[in-house]
Amino acid sequence: MSDQVTAIVLAAGAGTRMRSKRAKVLHELGGRSMIAYSLTAVREAGVERTIAVVGHDRDQVSAAIAELDPDVLLAVQDDQRGTGHAVQVALAALGARPEGTVLITYGDVPLLTPQTLGDLLDEHRSAGHTVTILTAELDDPTGYGRIVRDDTAAVTAIREDGDADDAERAIREVNSGILAVDAGFLADAVERLDTDNVQGELYLTDIVGRAVANGLPVGAHVLEDVWQTEGVNDRTQLARLGRELNRRLTEHWMREGVTIVDPDTTWIDSAVTLAPDVTLLPGTQLLGATVVESGTTIGPDTTLRNVEVGADATVVRTQGADVVIGANATVGPFSYLRTGTELGEAGKIGAFVETKNAQIGAGAKVPHLSYIGDAEVGEGSNIGAGTIVANYDGVEKHRTVVGKEARTGSNNVFVAPVSIGDGAYTGGGTVVREDVPPGALATSAGPQRTMEGWVQQKRAGTPAAEAAQDSTTEAASNAEEDESGE
Ligand code: UD1
Ligand code: CA
Repeated sequence: MSDQVTAIVLAAGAGTRMRSKRAKVLHELGGRSMIAYSLTAVREAGVERTIAVVGHDRDQVSAAIAELDPDVLLAVQDDQRGTGHAVQVALAALGARPEGTVLITYGDVPLLTPQTLGDLLDEHRSAGHTVTILTAELDDPTGYGRIVRDDTAAVTAIREDGDADDAERAIREVNSGILAVDAGFLADAVERLDTDNVQGELYLTDIVGRAVANGLPVGAHVLEDVWQTEGVNDRTQLARLGRELNRRLTEHWMREGVTIVDPDTTWIDSAVTLAPDVTLLPGTQLLGATVVESGTTIGPDTTLRNVEVGADATVVRTQGADVVIGANATVGPFSYLRTGTELGEAGKIGAFVETKNAQIGAGAKVPHLSYIGDAEVGEGSNIGAGTIVANYDGVEKHRTVVGKEARTGSNNVFVAPVSIGDGAYTGGGTVVREDVPPGALATSAGPQRTMEGWVQQKRAGTPAAEAAQDSTTEAASNAEEDESGE
């Protein structure tokens, strides 16, 4: 007897209630599509091969599956004549008659874990069952197939909701739809299904009655954690399962040593990695493949997607995507870090600063009110408040390079392409259009012109003129007093 396990993932359904242009199984929670969770679950449960049945939105779904796992075989079910028909289509696509065990699951049960599938397969094998059904006891079993048991508690059938009588409808144990089945039995049984039921479909669930009629052993693996068997049919269910997934993920990370002050307002995607002693403050969203090292505090109110944050950093009220933040660095509040920003160790990006494709060296600082794009700032340099890199000439983007230990003045414009050398200074308000050599001071503003008494003459009678007049009179009388006091 072969031990091989083939998984069939059913994903041909229409998903009408999502009311979406996007295929149902491609909707996401925790940063991944529902079908991605299904494929990961079967793969990690150790199946040898997987075949996905696609139908509605098949181009979208097939493309997504091919990208997630090119080893998954695809079977196309042109019209959806029931779960039994879907399995017929899958087996036909496999070609040769399957051996070992077939694991049947759905593309829209995102909380189902590899552990549960593994337990189902273990029980199926150790009990020597022909069919093992993953079941759950629900408070409201409406809509589900019911698990019918005889007076010895042995499973005798699965009865679909529409086909059940009152007594059967009262049964709270339901079919999750996930089954482990002896491959040879399955191949024969699905060929003998009929449409003699309320929905006029080929019910996969009818194989249970057939196995029992043939005296073959059928068992149920009752799952306590009912969330795992829940499917998504509309967007309220998607949100409900999304919140539960997040609850599980935040709990997981807390157990791993992460402080999460408010798990309800903290969102962590499935692929995120956090080190112990990270602290997440309320309103933090860590998305995509974000990685945070130990000792770092993030939040409040921060969204990071695909961001690597080094150890002992601080990131406050920040939005960032595709960015690297070095150890001991500080970011925020109110910073916007766009693709390609790399902040070096102990560097600083401060309030109201936007960066894009910017490499900011170790210990370098961009503390206030700046835009730094397509630029490099060397180690230990300080960029003055209100500096704008003019990286775009209206046609092309150009690069700015600031050397190490430079000190640039406030309210500068760096007109790219331009470079400012190591240790150079610029004055306040400088528009840097030409390269500044190392150690030079560059200024571009003209000399200041001061016209004495202009306000009293040109704005006579205004509060400014009065204040100026008072100040002048006071200064004169002070001078007189000083003289007479000698
Ligand atoms: C099915 C089960 C029911 C179980 C419930 C759990 C049958 C007859 N009934 O009912 O016992 O309690 O799931 O949710 O199996 N699909 C296809 N092709 C088809 C039909 C369905 O790929 O022709 C896929 C759907 O995309 C979905 C899954 O199979 O992922 C289940 O289909 P659905 O129509 O939701 O089944 P139910 O009638 O809810
Ligand atoms: Ca369903």
